[in-house]
Amino acid sequence: LWTPAKIIEDQVARVRDQVGDRHVLLGLSGGVDSSVVAALLHRAIGDQLTCVFVDNGLLRKNEGQQVMETFAKHMGVKVIRVDAEALFLDKLKGEADPEAKRKIIGNTFIEVFDEEASKIDGVDFLAQGTIYPDVIESAASKTGKAHVIKSHHNVGGLPETMKLKLVEPLRELFKDEVRKLGVELGLPYDMVYRHPFPGPGLGVRILGEVKKEYADILREADAIFIEELHNADWYHKTSQAFAVFLPVKSVGVVGDGRRYEWVIALRAVETIDFMTARWAHLPYELLETVSNRIINEISGVSRVTYDVSSKPPATIEWE
Ligand code: XMP
Repeated sequence: LWTPAKIIEDQVARVRDQVGDRHVLLGLSGGVDSSVVAALLHRAIGDQLTCVFVDNGLLRKNEGQQVMETFAKHMGVKVIRVDAEALFLDKLKGEADPEAKRKIIGNTFIEVFDEEASKIDGVDFLAQGTIYPDVIESAASKTGKAHVIKSHHNVGGLPETMKLKLVEPLRELFKDEVRKLGVELGLPYDMVYRHPFPGPGLGVRILGEVKKEYADILREADAIFIEELHNADWYHKTSQAFAVFLPVKSVGVVGDGRRYEWVIALRAVETIDFMTARWAHLPYELLETVSNRIINEISGVSRVTYDVSSKPPATIEWE
C-alpha cells in the first residue's frame, strides 16, 4: 500500500543504502520540499546530515527564526545559518531588471552555498528537494519546449566543481504526496501547507531595484496580510497570497499632516496548477482590515491596492 508511512520507510532504506556512513549536505530554504527532505534524511541518517540555510535578506518576516526553531531546536538537525543579507543586497544594487535580479540571486546563492560546503569536511552527497514536476519541467526546458520557465535553482543549477553525488528522495513524488510525507514526519502543519514562495523571494516582489528599506516594509505588510487571511479563514481558500512593494510615492493624510509614502499592492489567487489563476474574490471587509492595518502600522506606506488581474495574461508574481 502506498501510504506516506510506507514511502518514508522505503526512502529511509534507500537513502541509508545509497549513503552508507558518508555525509550529506542539504540546502534548506524553509520551503516545503527542502524541509521534507531535511526531516526525511534526519530520520534516515541523523548526524550524517548537515543543512545550510542561507538567509539572503529576502525572506518573509521571522522566516529564518522559524526554520532554525523547527529544525535545529526542536528536531535536533544540524543546521548552519549563513547571514548573507548584506552580500545579496550589495550584488543586487543598481539592478532593476527582473530576470537579471533572478540570476544574481541564484548565482549568489550558489556562491554562498559552495563556500559553506567547502568548509565542511568529508561530504560526498548533496541532497535536493527535487520533486516530480521539477524533473519534468527541467527536461522540457532542456529540449527548448518550455522557453518561458523562469530560472530555478533547484535542478541542475549547482556547480559541477562540487563533484557531489545527488540524493533526491522526492524525485518521484507530487506536491500533495510530499506534504503528506511532511506531516507524517512530524513537521508543523503550517509549514507543510504554506503557500509557495519563489526562490528569489522578496527580490521579485520589490519592483525594480531591491533595497533593504523596501524589503523591511514589504516584510511587515506581507505579514499583516497573511495574518488577516488566517484570521478570516481565507488563507487556505487561496492558493497563493502576498504583498508587493511598488517603488512609487503617493500622497496621503494622517491627522493634520500630509504623508508622501510608498504603495503596497496585495495579490491573492486561486489556482490548481499555477499555470492559470483567478484573482481571489476576497471579502471587502477583509481587504479593508488589511489596508487599514498596513497604512496605520507601517509609517512608510500611504496607500494599498488590490490586484484584480488574472493569469493569463498577468503572471502571479509581478516580476
Ligand atoms: P508566475 O509569476 O510565473 O508564477 O505566474 C507561477 C508560480 O511560480 C512561482 N515563481 C517562482 N518560483 N523561482 C521560483 O522558485 C522563480 O523565479 C519564480 N517565479 C515565479 C510563483 O511564486 C508562482 O507560485
